[in-house]
Amino acid sequence: MRAIVQRGYGSPDQVLELADVAVPEPAADEVLVRIHAASVHPDVWHVVRGFPLVLRLMGAGVRRPRVAVPGTDMAGIVERVGRSVTQHSPGDAVYGETLRGHQWKNGGAFAEYATVHESALAPKPADLSFAEAAAIPTSAYIAYDNMGHLVDDGMRVAVNGAAGGVGMFCVQIAKAAGAHVTGVDSGAKLDMMRRIGADEVVDYAAEDFTADPDGFDLIVDIPGNRSFDDLARVLRPGGSYVYIGHDRFAKRRHRVLGSTIPRMLRLGLEAPFGRGRQSARKDRPDHRVATRALVAAGAIRPVLEETPFGLAEVASALKYLEEGRALGKIVVRVADEAPGSSPH
Ligand SMILES: NC(=O)c1ccc[n+]([C@@H]2O[C@H](COP(=O)([O-])OP(=O)(O)OC[C@H]3O[C@@H](n4cnc5c(N)ncnc54)[C@H](OP(=O)(O)O)[C@@H]3O)[C@@H](O)[C@H]2O)c1
Repeated sequence: MRAIVQRGYGSPDQVLELADVAVPEPAADEVLVRIHAASVHPDVWHVVRGFPLVLRLMGAGVRRPRVAVPGTDMAGIVERVGRSVTQHSPGDAVYGETLRGHQWKNGGAFAEYATVHESALAPKPADLSFAEAAAIPTSAYIAYDNMGHLVDDGMRVAVNGAAGGVGMFCVQIAKAAGAHVTGVDSGAKLDMMRRIGADEVVDYAAEDFTADPDGFDLIVDIPGNRSFDDLARVLRPGGSYVYIGHDRFAKRRHRVLGSTIPRMLRLGLEAPFGRGRQSARKDRPDHRVATRALVAAGAIRPVLEETPFGLAEVASALKYLEEGRALGKIVVRVADEAPGSSPH
């Protein structure tokens, strides 16, 4: 099969190449999926670059990636199933992550076929294209995992970075729960934020959302560019601040830890003093199951960057992500899909 192979850590155009490799063999509890579309998100970029260095010790591989084929999010058709698989059958249209657990590892999704644990796959809703379904998993799961259990009907919610890969799902999860949502992002993305349901939109270069006179019950922060003092000023009593984090593709560089981990650590240290992330409720649901239910109900949908990339263009797709020009999730089309087609 054709697959993108990563020879080492470094610039995507230098370490990635299209190659012929063996089709993987599914284990007993795995499914072999013929991939129609895959998508790109910042963690894929991190593993191709090998940055921050700590990810290499977290299972990605110290000198070079342990798994040669990058990519984690995909949608396609079940080709074959392992002998103990009960949830999927050949011919089913599915979407999901090729990895279980954290995403700082290569997952084999930028290929014509991948093996996936059966629990990591969900049926693709008929009204979603493969490209749309492939754009959902990691970003939407990160969104729900961090804020899905904290949001409630009638809350005032701010999403800083609301038009990005994770932010677009935070907005929709909050709207589905009945919250009033303020989306904060760059001026070019105001319309997009309105389209996905934001009640109010803020251009971060023109306005300061931490000066909002009504304040927020929940602030979900992807870029993490504001001081804790600014955020505390606009957080209502008993409100929650959730930091998701964004390393800006190493532009604010801490070689070992990146920029997200140090801020997370500081937040954890400050939590006992009332500024940190709220602890999880006891009845916190499984975020993957909850997200899939919202997808199945049509409550969350991805916005796609208009022009998809082909399998041979994964390095260009990662470069495009790094340049920050995307107005939606970046998709890699692996197999042909007529616009609007949705087999199964
Ligand atoms: N916490 C967790 O559980 C967890 C787990 C895994 C991964 N992650 C991390 O989550 C991050 C998710 O990123 P993503 O996919 O959402 O990235 P993205 O698509 O690049 O979105 C980030 C958005 O933030 C906007 N932005 C930049 N500066 C801003 C500012 N000063 N104020 C407001 N908005 C600003 C960007 O807009 P412009 O570029 O137009 O400025 C962009 O729309 C990744 O870095 C990933 O590593 C977190």
